[in-house]
Amino acid sequence: MRVNENILISSLTTMRLGGPARYVLEVEKPEEVADAYGFAEQYNLPTFALGYGANTIGHDEGFNGVIIINRMQGISESITEDGVLLKEMGGEYWDNVVEYACNKGLTGIEALSKIPGLAGAAPVQNIGAYGQEIADTLVEIDVYDTTEKSFKTLKKAELEFSYRKSILNSTAKGRYFVISITLLLKSGEMQQPFYKSLEKFLDDNGITDFSPKNIRTAVSAIRADKLPDPMEIASAGSFFKNVYVSDEDADKYESKGYPVYRGKDGNKINSGWLIEQAGLKGQIFHGFKVSEKAALVLINESATSYEDLVKARSEITGKVYDKFGFWLEQEPVEIQ
Ligand code: EPU
Repeated sequence: MRVNENILISSLTTMRLGGPARYVLEVEKPEEVADAYGFAEQYNLPTFALGYGANTIGHDEGFNGVIIINRMQGISESITEDGVLLKEMGGEYWDNVVEYACNKGLTGIEALSKIPGLAGAAPVQNIGAYGQEIADTLVEIDVYDTTEKSFKTLKKAELEFSYRKSILNSTAKGRYFVISITLLLKSGEMQQPFYKSLEKFLDDNGITDFSPKNIRTAVSAIRADKLPDPMEIASAGSFFKNVYVSDEDADKYESKGYPVYRGKDGNKINSGWLIEQAGLKGQIFHGFKVSEKAALVLINESATSYEDLVKARSEITGKVYDKFGFWLEQEPVEIQ
């Protein structure tokens, strides 16, 4: 276990905000996870499990606690009657997992290509894009349970997945550290119908072979065109969640001319559309720019403080509320 002291959270997160963390521990094997939580207990400090920092925001005062970073890597596979079980350690970079699966012709996660972050973080907020979410293929995860101080396996049903949600970021937030995740993937092609923008890309480019590799190429191209690469441009991906409404409200808003997407996870009004209609695309608020390409993305152009983000967020959500009556919710989590 590597022990670091007083590390700026801005250097560990892609939004590049946040003061110093008292300790940052990097764990390279499962036993070290137990040691890391023991370390925090010994100093009586709170903990925060961090991955790649692509969906996490730091506060100006930093964190008087212990950040634990998953550095465990590796992918292994086993063939079963139902398909291929792919098990990856939590510290593996998520896109490496997708690439590995696509190269083997396995379908199930190809639409989740190029999502920044670690495999261990993927189930926490149930990552999703272009019609797939990790809940579709996840079988189980191995965790360290910080309450019972033991290693456990949690089955998919126990994780209670829904849109950008699982017990790991809600009812059991902070309790489990993800050691590894196991997915069940199958040989073959992604099922149609495709997500609108993916279908358009495939049509425009005359792609009729929907192999995992081809879908990966398509999704990668769509994302590269719209979403900033966090290594180059500071952001935390989609900064706001989409708005989910009841069936009754969906009908009501549709008749008013709002775009409503009826998916397997509920009726969605696209928050990017709401922000765009509120005239905020490309506008700068306290150093944060509402992306011209994808209005859900907030780009940190010149801000250096969390206080600026608080101001920008409240101005943007206030304007959307004034126009539409919806309060947008933030997607990234905060270290506190
Ligand atoms: N739209 C607009 N203006 C915009 C953006 C979107 O009008 O600026 C409308 C368009 O009608 C468009 C529709 O919204 O056709 C869907 O937009 P898009 O495909 O860009 O998806 P999204 O709903 O904005 C979600 C996820 C993304 C994910 C994409 C693709 C959330 C919060 N975001 O965005 O996830 O990549 O779908 O599936 O659910 C992330 O979570 O960090 C993230 C990037």
